Amino acid sequence: MKLMVSNLRAVGIVGLGAWLPEQKITNHDLMKLVDTSDQWILTRTGISERRKASAEEAASDLGTKAAQKALAMAKVKAEDVDLIIVATVTPDMFFPATACLVQKNLGAVKAAAFDLSAACSGFLYALAVGSQFVATGAYDTVLVVAAEVLTKIVNWEDRHSCILFGDGAGAAVLQAVEKDTGFLSFDLGADGTGGDLLKVPAGGSRKPACQETVQNKEHFLVMSGNEVFKFAVKAMADTSLKALEKAGLSQEDLACLIPHQANTRIIEAVRKRLGLPAEKVFINLDRYGNMSSASIPVALAEAVEKGYLHKGDLLLLVGFGAGLTWGSAVMKWVV
Ligand code: ACO
Repeated sequence: MKLMVSNLRAVGIVGLGAWLPEQKITNHDLMKLVDTSDQWILTRTGISERRKASAEEAASDLGTKAAQKALAMAKVKAEDVDLIIVATVTPDMFFPATACLVQKNLGAVKAAAFDLSAACSGFLYALAVGSQFVATGAYDTVLVVAAEVLTKIVNWEDRHSCILFGDGAGAAVLQAVEKDTGFLSFDLGADGTGGDLLKVPAGGSRKPACQETVQNKEHFLVMSGNEVFKFAVKAMADTSLKALEKAGLSQEDLACLIPHQANTRIIEAVRKRLGLPAEKVFINLDRYGNMSSASIPVALAEAVEKGYLHKGDLLLLVGFGAGLTWGSAVMKWVV
């Protein structure tokens, strides 16, 4: 998917926001729940702690706070937003869409709103979808939100998965930008044959909630960690190279890589395949764990806040997730 065709507008991120719940769960806290150790988690994943939403907080609450920050940075009023897309696998409920709840919370009265489900690749999918509306001129301002409360779908008795995930939200405001800046290319993909590797088996129309599904804990996330690991390394490296090729760039041109924050060993393997130096790869998963769709925007917001990214820098966002799905975007940073 190459966006920069002459009759389309260039589109970029003009505002960013992140929001994280206050409560932290450290590796030592997890040692009280399952048979694990700080050292195992740290060496196998790179994670030290993650955040946890309160019992009252849902995805729309986190997403609204991240969106308010992104709108403030972009100096855009909520009532001027044309479209809200929320990427999430932990929506407040089946329906209404979490995007409609965020729209209400923000007072974004003229915005259309819908949810998008692509798991950890959700933010990249939503950026690609949202930017089409701005590129064609259909809309001027699109708000992309990625909000997840994974701690509510994690099985706290499963040491293979409960150590990995955390809660958080990120948001980005998309508008038209100067020619040849903003998004230079996207690459998206999916392989539904790997759907069973990472899923929540019950609660949908295939296996509606009943006493038995609750007893069997089928409303929690199940994962084949090893297989997801192998898929992640190959998918992230391949999609990165495709997005770079579509943008007419190579790895050496990049100032920064912001990968999905699932596991430092996955990120390190991808970094090596791409031949990038470690200092060009932004990592914050040690403090937040894997926040699914929210990982990339939270990392991007932190990278900007910490002065890691500068106007004119070329950067690559890349992720993978359940589905299976993957995606990447090459950008020239504009703010
Ligand atoms: N503490 C201690 N030991 C553990 C733990 C734990 N928390 N979890 C597993 N082990 C044990 C296993 O039981 C196994 O022991 P055994 O050899 O006696 O059977 C041993 O450690 C090794 O287990 P593996 O599963 O082989 O460990 P691995 O190195 O693959 O790491 C991990 C597991 C961290 C899950 C890794 O496979 C991974 O990160 N996979 C990718 C997962 C991922 O990114 N998922 C998110 C996708 S994004 C989305 O869409 C939500």
